[in-house]
This record gives sequence, C-alpha cells and structure tokens, in this order.
Amino acid sequence: MSKKIAVLVGSLRKDSYNLKVAKVFQQIAPESLSLNIIEIGDLPFYNEDIDVDTPPPSYTRFRQAIASCEGVIFVTPEYNRGLPAVIKNALDVGSRPYGKSVWSKKPAAVVSVSQGAIGGFSANHQLRQSLVFLDMPTLQQPEAYVGNIAAAFDEHGNINEKTQSFLALIIDSYAKWVEKLS
Ligand code: FNR
Repeated sequence: MSKKIAVLVGSLRKDSYNLKVAKVFQQIAPESLSLNIIEIGDLPFYNEDIDVDTPPPSYTRFRQAIASCEGVIFVTPEYNRGLPAVIKNALDVGSRPYGKSVWSKKPAAVVSVSQGAIGGFSANHQLRQSLVFLDMPTLQQPEAYVGNIAAAFDEHGNINEKTQSFLALIIDSYAKWVEKLS
C-alpha cells in the first residue's frame, strides 16, 4: 500500500511554478508514495490567543491532514532570501498545542524552486533550520535547488526532460528515505 505524503507549497499564486513542480511530483512519484497537496493559504497567522478550546477550523483541518500523513515534502519559493511567511506559519500552526506537534519524526524533503539562478538556496536552508527543531528527519541528498524554473516549462505547461529527470531523482530518493525510516 502506498504511503500518504503531504506536500506543502510555499506560494499561493494561481500560476505558481512551485505548484506546477508539486503537480509534476504527483505525476512521477513512485507507487510507494501517494502525494496530497495540503492547503495552507487559509491558516490565520498563528496566535496563541485564538488557539484555545475551539481553535480556528482551518487549524484543526490542517493538523488532522498532516497527522494523517507519513511524511512531508516542502516545495517553496524564496522570498527576499528567506522563507515565505505562509510556510513558516504552517510550521507554527502544526507545532502547537505544545507537546502535540504533528511534525515529529515525519520524514521530510525540502525542494526550493525559483525563477532565479540560485534556486532558492537561502529559503531551503532557513526551512531546514526549523525542521531540526521540529524533529523531522530530512533528506540530505540530492540537494533540491531548482533554479531558472520559468525556462523549464513550455507554453503548454509541459516540463523539459532535464528538469523532470532531476525531479524524478529527488522524489525517488525521498521514497527510499521514507522506506528506510519506516
Ligand atoms: C521573490 N523572488 C525571489 N527569488 C529568489 O530567487 N530569491 C528571492 O529572494 C526572491 N524574493 C522574492 C520576494 C517576493 C516578495 C516575491 C514575490 C518574489 C522571485 C520568485 O522566485 C519568483 O516570483 C517565483 O516564481 C515565485 O514562486 P512561484 O510563485 O512561481 O511558485
């Protein structure tokens, strides 16, 4: 049976390249993984004052969605050499209430996708910093910096072979990582 894996996309843009890459992962993932893109755009900024007896329904929905998965893939752009706020907010929401984090021990992969040449390196590593604290064993190799992404898709939305091969290498390596930790 395939393992259910959450995919969090760090861009809310309708035509997001990160979303396109997440969808390519869904198409090319090995049968051992079933990838589910989980909505993060509707999570109010984390605030302990609203996270009381009846938290916002979106917090509950999000926590349950992550809890039901056996791993998490982050596909994120870089904003101003850092992590987009929506991804950090999702991490914060999932980490609470204290002692009930939904992230602990879930195998992770970080894929940064950018129109720039550096491939979102800073966002990638900033995200990894939080994953250490959240106790998510994270795939180390291959490192997944996907730069110049606009050139990777043609006018019909098809991805070029070279980029698809790289994405296949990432997702196959992640599948092995999940297997190893299970
Ligand atoms: C960017 N972009 C960007 N790119 C990059 O490589 N390093 C950066 O620091 C930034 N900073 C940045 C800040 C803000 C506020 C925006 C909106 C954009 C460009 C970014 O890589 C590009 O817009 C991507 O296409 C965003 O990903 P999606 O939305 O296509 O998935």
